[in-house]
Amino acid sequence: MPLTKMSPLLAKARNEKYAVGSFSVANMEMVLGVLKAVEETKSPAIIQIAEVRLKQSPLELIGPLMVAAAKNCSMPVAVHFDHGKTKEKIQQALDIGFTSVMFDGSHLPFEENAAVTSGIKKTASLYNADCEGEIGCVGGSEDGSEDIAVNCTSPEQAKEFYEKTCVDALAVAIGNAHGNYKQAPKLRFDILEKTAPLVKVPLVLHGGTGILPDDFRKCISLGINKINIATATFDSVQANVRKCYTEGAINGYYDLQAAEVEGAYLNAMKHIEIFGCAGKGIQ
Ligand code: 13P
Repeated sequence: MPLTKMSPLLAKARNEKYAVGSFSVANMEMVLGVLKAVEETKSPAIIQIAEVRLKQSPLELIGPLMVAAAKNCSMPVAVHFDHGKTKEKIQQALDIGFTSVMFDGSHLPFEENAAVTSGIKKTASLYNADCEGEIGCVGGSEDGSEDIAVNCTSPEQAKEFYEKTCVDALAVAIGNAHGNYKQAPKLRFDILEKTAPLVKVPLVLHGGTGILPDDFRKCISLGINKINIATATFDSVQANVRKCYTEGAINGYYDLQAAEVEGAYLNAMKHIEIFGCAGKGIQ
């Protein structure tokens, strides 16, 4: 059960009240670490890369690697293009074989966001791929280059947006932000409570790094079924490499590589446990 679309993974998560981790990856070591955790825990998963990260990890190189890794995995894994900004890159991801794409029009006026997202949804459908949209605006930015303010989702706008676009998953803003929080955020659970019954598809929580385990669980109980984790992976890889150097465990390049894989693995293991998706990859 290798490469899959994200919609069946999220539909099962919605029925059984858990969330699927959507882990950002930047290189082969991170892909290997995440999928090691997935195999070990028998979880479904999504691996993703955001458009702003392509400066460091070109799509034509990392994309085929992600797709091949998902195909090799014994658990169901979707390959997702995160925070797509341009139609060209979204199209390229679909051509490479990504099974879902996000268009992030959260900075656009409502009607424009809905119109462009709807067009991307149609393009994705031609590839039998899924489409995620965003309504409201998650704070921060995916690569830390901008400090975008949170603009919390209006449940009524979420409903209208979903009806106009027919997206397969909808990212909401409830006080969450990308990157490390200065302090744990106070999430607006009331927004989730009102939005989930109005929108017929799974909701997505971005900015997963630094959200407290109990807050994750509460979000899941209120309709979040996909949780994006990026910074925590990068931090865990760095921390594990630093620790291994300090302990004298790195003697040559391949020890360094193993420490990177291990860092991504440890972070994925931690989140899989909190999200309640261990064992859910078995068909
Ligand atoms: P973090 O970097 O805060 O984990 O956010 C990840 C994310 O939402 C990617 O879309």
